[in-house]
Amino acid sequence: MTDSAVQPPYRIHALELGPMENFIYVIEDRATRRAAIVDPAWEPAEILALAEQHGLRITDVLLTHSHHDHINGIEQVLEAAPSARLHLLKPEADFWGQALEKPELHHGGDRLQLGETEIQFLHTPGHTPGSACFHLPAGDDLITGDTLFVFGCGRCDLSGGNPEQMFHTLTDLRTGLPAHTCIHPGHNYSEKTTSTLEEEREGNPFLHFDQLEPFVHYRMHEHDRLRHSPYGPVRKPTSG
Ligand SMILES: [Fe+2]
Repeated sequence: MTDSAVQPPYRIHALELGPMENFIYVIEDRATRRAAIVDPAWEPAEILALAEQHGLRITDVLLTHSHHDHINGIEQVLEAAPSARLHLLKPEADFWGQALEKPELHHGGDRLQLGETEIQFLHTPGHTPGSACFHLPAGDDLITGDTLFVFGCGRCDLSGGNPEQMFHTLTDLRTGLPAHTCIHPGHNYSEKTTSTLEEEREGNPFLHFDQLEPFVHYRMHEHDRLRHSPYGPVRKPTSG
């Protein structure tokens, strides 16, 4: 069996940029050399240099959400790749309220074809009303923005946050995707840069709740007092 028989049709490049340890991802479609940039921010020159170094043509820009630390490089990237399409979920565009130039607005369940690479948009509200995760089913990768961190989750007390929605979102992610799904978060807040959904189910305290109210209390009042980054795994409490 050749290598290409087992490889997904894409590669994911990660850049950690800026003062808030943001991860910016470049999804490379191997066959067509197309690239999608997820959350262009902080040092667009570095993002563009990575694309150039790998011989990639930026055709798409995807936003997990509209907070400043995830979007402050959009203009420079679109200037360098003027035909690239900008994608975000409609509820995030409504929340953001920016007069964006010709964005493509999506709903949860939409799919984008980047050459031979399929990217699915998941609507994952909680950190913001229109937060998105991007699922690449061919390799079971999930780019999670500020919805799910390695052993953590995004805050719900900032503009647009809603802990009740976050509980339902995390419950759906916890139960709805294969255990070996690889998580790629929006910040480097943890002991390691990626993990699997199985590791998250075991070690992410936000995935240990079956009930809404204790989750909301933990997210809003307890977590930030009890834990500090870099986050490591937390043992799941034994019931009974
Ligand atoms: Fe955010």
